[in-house]
Amino acid sequence: MKKTYLVTGGAGFIGANFIIHMLTNHKDINIINLDALTYAANLENLKEVEKDSRYKFVKANLCNIKEIEDVFKENEIDYVVNFAAESHVDRSIKNPTEFVKTNVEGTVNLLAVSKEAWENSKGEFKQGVRFLQVSTDEVYGSLGEEGYFSETTPLDPHSPYSASKASADLFVKAYYDTFKMPVNITRCSNNYGPNQFLEKLIPLIIFNAINLKPLPIYGDGKQVRDWLYVTDHCRAIDLVIKKAKVGEVYNVGGNNEKFNIDIVKTIIKILKETVNEKISEDLIKYVEDRKGHDRRYAIDASKIKKELGWEPQINFEEGIKKTVKWYVENKEWVLNVSSKGYLKYYEEMYSKL
Ligand code: NAD
Ligand code: TYD
Repeated sequence: MKKTYLVTGGAGFIGANFIIHMLTNHKDINIINLDALTYAANLENLKEVEKDSRYKFVKANLCNIKEIEDVFKENEIDYVVNFAAESHVDRSIKNPTEFVKTNVEGTVNLLAVSKEAWENSKGEFKQGVRFLQVSTDEVYGSLGEEGYFSETTPLDPHSPYSASKASADLFVKAYYDTFKMPVNITRCSNNYGPNQFLEKLIPLIIFNAINLKPLPIYGDGKQVRDWLYVTDHCRAIDLVIKKAKVGEVYNVGGNNEKFNIDIVKTIIKILKETVNEKISEDLIKYVEDRKGHDRRYAIDASKIKKELGWEPQINFEEGIKKTVKWYVENKEWVLNVSSKGYLKYYEEMYSKL
């Protein structure tokens, strides 16, 4: 039977990669992309599938419950994959309220409408349906030099972004605990790859370096993130929807911990060799640290490996070269994004440089 996925936030970075990954690897599916088209969205990300008869875009906002209901009225949805979110920590520090609206209220609206569509009068859910909440390792807080986040690590978010994601996770859990709604949560580490908005570390450094602009490093640059190539995250989500036991949480990560400063130096080296020899470490500029900056994230992904047979396929060396090449080759995409607000954002954030 042909399954229909409702993917929210599909015009953003990971959502768009997920839609392309799914339509490329599975013939017999339909995908509805529900997205409010905020600053982070870009329908260009979906150009290669926009004419595919299995794909449909609906402009709708998770904060407007009626707009979600309309999508469920018009379509028989089997799987909900909730990517839609305000996703940038720096913006959450400036404006926490927006994060509560989309990440918490929006998720609760989506849970409520999905439940309404899937539950019968006896409180039983339709066979085979699934609600997958795409969460983040940031809900666990910050690690010292040792140790890993496992699925049983207590939630201890620090930023308004991670607090809003942790809150959404607890509502998803509540729908499982209270109603036995078939849900799962994935908590992934930092993603990188094509189509990521220029405000995040890796695309920002690539863009600024190509334009010989300063490369802002927060604090001492010794914070650690565990980087995963975006399609490896997409493959994990695909597996969880199809194979996971309901109610389970899965960590997803690449065992690829790097200091921020080393990420920046790697990008400089690739660009110096391939684009312009003027690109050098002299562009690095240490700036004021992010408030409440989490020191280290590291994921123990043994549960998803053992239970679902997931393994990352793209190592960091290969992934970062592919990513840099993509931004270098997709000048039009970069120009569109930079003219649609990124440059203004950059000037505001880094006016001190
Ligand atoms: P993104 O910011 O690139 O995209 C978010 C998308 O959601 C955009 O297309 C935006 O228009 C849409 N959106 C925002 N508010 C909406 C609303 N109210 N209604 C409907 N659509 C709305 O984000 P991303 O980096 O692709 O992240 C996707 C998800 O994955 C998020 O939930 C994020 O928390 C999670 N995640 C991200 C990472 C990462 O490294 N980027 C890692 C782990 C988990
Ligand atoms: P980011 O890409 O914003 O992801 P997250 O905060 O969700 O992990 O940032 C990754 C790391 O890079 C984080 O430690 C903050 C740091 N950073 C900089 O040093 N300079 C920058 O300009 C940005 C955007 C991030």
